Amino acid sequence: MHVIRQFVIAAGLSLGTLAPAHGTDLPDAPGRQQVIESCSQCHSIDLLAQRRSADDWSQIVSQMVGQGAKMTDEQFQTILDYLSNHMTPAKTPPAGKAGQ
Ligand code: HEC
Repeated sequence: MHVIRQFVIAAGLSLGTLAPAHGTDLPDAPGRQQVIESCSQCHSIDLLAQRRSADDWSQIVSQMVGQGAKMTDEQFQTILDYLSNHMTPAKTPPAGKAGQ
């Protein structure tokens, strides 16, 4: 079942230090370069500007592999980490933090 999580986890993340990006909305952080390289081959990187939950990103990146995106397991993980940590709505907890 899909459960919408309404609670906010205050994880101590600092949101104050992200520099404004010009051109794309991808925050400057480790993995950004990989995302740009792997995800701008078939469509604009602007598609990634929409924030999504970590679960959604996981599905989307898998879907992109199905579309023909080529990446190693390591690159997959780098991309997923980046998207899950930086491109989620503020109230969605990052993947991997909420239980294992
Ligand atoms: C091999 C080509 C290819 C690559 C590489 C690729 N995509 Fe896509 N992407 C597509 C196609 C084709 C669509 C539109 C078809 C669809 O929505 O299923 C799409 C659509 C999308 C969408 C919109 C989906 C929606 O339902 O609104 C997102 C988000 C996305 N891609 C993210 C990514 C990310 C993140 C990466 C890098 C991991 C990536 N794409 C790499 C082919 C690719």
